[in-house]
Amino acid sequence: MEKLKTGIEGLDTLLYGGIPKGRACLIAGEPGTGKTLFSLQFLLEGLQEGQRAIYITIDEKPEHLISDALALGWDLRPYLESGTFQILDVTGYFSTSDIGDNEGINVTQIIKDIVEFVQKNKADRLAIDPIAPLVFTGHGTSQVVAYIRRLIFMLESEASCTTLLTSYVPVGSEKISHHGIEEFAASGIILLRLTQMNQKYIRTIRVRKMRGTRIDLSEYSFEILPQRGLVLRQPVS
Ligand SMILES: Nc1ncnc2c1ncn2[C@@H]1O[C@H](COP(=O)(O)OP(=O)(O)O)[C@@H](O)[C@H]1O
Ligand SMILES: [Mg+2]
Repeated sequence: MEKLKTGIEGLDTLLYGGIPKGRACLIAGEPGTGKTLFSLQFLLEGLQEGQRAIYITIDEKPEHLISDALALGWDLRPYLESGTFQILDVTGYFSTSDIGDNEGINVTQIIKDIVEFVQKNKADRLAIDPIAPLVFTGHGTSQVVAYIRRLIFMLESEASCTTLLTSYVPVGSEKISHHGIEEFAASGIILLRLTQMNQKYIRTIRVRKMRGTRIDLSEYSFEILPQRGLVLRQPVS
């Protein structure tokens, strides 16, 4: 099976080479655990290999994303200028509707638009950060399940890109994802956590599921370093 390297030091070993090509994988964690940096690092790895990448943002302004990456030593601008990298801000989709009311949002249309955009741009790698607002409140859980399944199905069958979907986990919650259901449809799940150890917090990462490949299930500590981004350290017991 062909795999795409994440570019995250130590992680590709846990994944026996990387993320299976063409699949959609969920990156779940509380705010500040590193989901956005993980996504960027995955896209940047592809860009450096000459691939094409798209980042779909809902919460963050593209200029903030670019300057935050630059602060870490990652210059996205050459890729944006050459057109191999695109940042799509879909916040506008939600601007007509107040939070908690998505009457005006046509989720089916959003899914169609995303898939078409990915196809048109021939993207190899895609990140949707985060997935939850795409299926905002107002819909019943069964509809949310249906939409997420459809989005993942469409991306895996029609878009021919490898996708990361990030998912917000409420602080202190044992749930993997915002709705508690995204995980069933995704081909893979990677969990990011802040764990208290000897009176200080450490960052940890664990591959919980990855269809079609062997994985190392151990939880590892990691750091966020200039240039190198996420860097895995050692297993935590
Ligand atoms: N330049 C940097 N150097 C070191 N750590 C950084 C840097 N930029 C961000 N971080 C760390 O990464 C965290 C944010 O990661 P982010 O990917 O935005 O999290 P999430 O998307 O899960 O909310 C910050 O809280 C900070 O601790
Ligand atoms: Mg984020």
